[in-house]
Amino acid sequence: MVTRRIAEILRNGQPDELVTIKGWVRTKRELKEFAFMEVNDGSFLANLQVILNPDLPKYEDILKQLNTGASVEVAGTLVPSPGKGQRIELKASTVQVYGDADPETYPLQKKRHSFEFLRTIGHLRSRTNTLGAVFRVRNACANAIHQFFQEQGFLWIHSPIITASDCEGAGELFTVTNLDLKDLPKTEAQQVDYNQDFFGRHAYLTVSGQLQAEVMAMAFRDVYTFGPTFRAENSNTSRHLAEFWMVEPEMAFCDLVGDMDLAEAFLKYVFKSVLESCPEDMEFFNKRIDNSVLATADNIINNEFERITYTDAIALLEKADRKFEYSVSWGLDLQSEHERYLAEELFKKPVIVTDYPVEIKAFYMRLSDDEKTVRAMDVLAPKIGEIIGGSQREERLDVLEKRIASQGIPPEDLWWYLDLRRYGTVPHAGFGLGFERLVQFMTGMGNIRDVIPFPRTPLSAEF
Ligand code: 4AD
Ligand code: MG
Repeated sequence: MVTRRIAEILRNGQPDELVTIKGWVRTKRELKEFAFMEVNDGSFLANLQVILNPDLPKYEDILKQLNTGASVEVAGTLVPSPGKGQRIELKASTVQVYGDADPETYPLQKKRHSFEFLRTIGHLRSRTNTLGAVFRVRNACANAIHQFFQEQGFLWIHSPIITASDCEGAGELFTVTNLDLKDLPKTEAQQVDYNQDFFGRHAYLTVSGQLQAEVMAMAFRDVYTFGPTFRAENSNTSRHLAEFWMVEPEMAFCDLVGDMDLAEAFLKYVFKSVLESCPEDMEFFNKRIDNSVLATADNIINNEFERITYTDAIALLEKADRKFEYSVSWGLDLQSEHERYLAEELFKKPVIVTDYPVEIKAFYMRLSDDEKTVRAMDVLAPKIGEIIGGSQREERLDVLEKRIASQGIPPEDLWWYLDLRRYGTVPHAGFGLGFERLVQFMTGMGNIRDVIPFPRTPLSAEF
């Protein structure tokens, strides 16, 4: 008999159907005449209730092994459930225990655990209701992202993980090397001689696939990357990871307005799609994690995002009737408290801030005629702050060369990037979405470490 997923049985299963399921025991309850157990296979928030009658072969022995965490295969018949909360249950005719789980030591007994505790058992926490729901929604989000771009004819490109360029210029790079750390080759100036390293140059884990996405956009018009990125940023916050996934569309023949339009349509599409594919999980988040989850989703889908310039944002922040920890003035970067004030309190919806001062943004952003600002845009989300960062790119060779020089970047390192402006250059634009921040935003989960299966943060890479 084919094994069915519990999600499919709970949605479509009919009385009298013969089914086999495989999963892990969540709870067991022994009564005088018979016993119940709840089994979960990760496909659905709810468990399937299984009825165990004493006429089962080796009933007593099996019952002893059916502890929380044990792995089982059950074959039997579906019957209408007399109990509340479920439509259908499974009357077992055979039960096979694959591996038991000692109730004295298995850490996930019935009581609720804190997310902090669950992080210490990263190898087991995915078996809980909340983390289960998170990873199903994360999967649905990833799927919706691909669907959105594929429907619009974007090409998914695979940007390299190992790179020689610091796209963001923020110096948050992890070096990739196979040099002998105990006996490093040195140059005459006593620097590490990376010319003798594996790649014959200093190589890093990528902080962004954007520069390579720009290369590909100059051949395919519309492309996107979706992959891991790495930042050696020593910030222990609830919104930063050292390894996170980024979605980066890049569009040739596109300006900043087109870029903002895409970002907005994209977020709306993904929210709508996840609500449709994971309604039970989204309700769970609304009930148990953050009671504004469904209202937020509705707000995203049905309202236009606010669009304001950085200059206007600064004016609004200066007028704000509140004390910020970090000062506000034209030329300083917005801090997360400022971003959240704008999105969460002032506009109560996502806000796209554009036209930031040239000094605080990366070299590749297009310089405006005022020569003080660049065509940048950040999408700020309530509770999260910056969720998307993007810009129109500098497509003029002479201007780009000046920007690179003024930031002290050796132009020979970017000769290929500059070539794109020599041969068939076009206005183009793109953005980067922090995938984990999107999952946080969608689920209401407070800490970014709880929306990625194996978080990497300063001093933590155990599992
Ligand atoms: O704003 P960022 O640094 O933009 C770029 O990297 C551009 N090259 C993107 C592009 O235009 N193609 O990063 C983009 C997004 C941020 O808005 C944020 O959501 C997320 O990536 N992000 C992080 N997420 C988790 N942990 C971190 N340490 C993050 N740093 C950035
Ligand atoms: Mg940014």
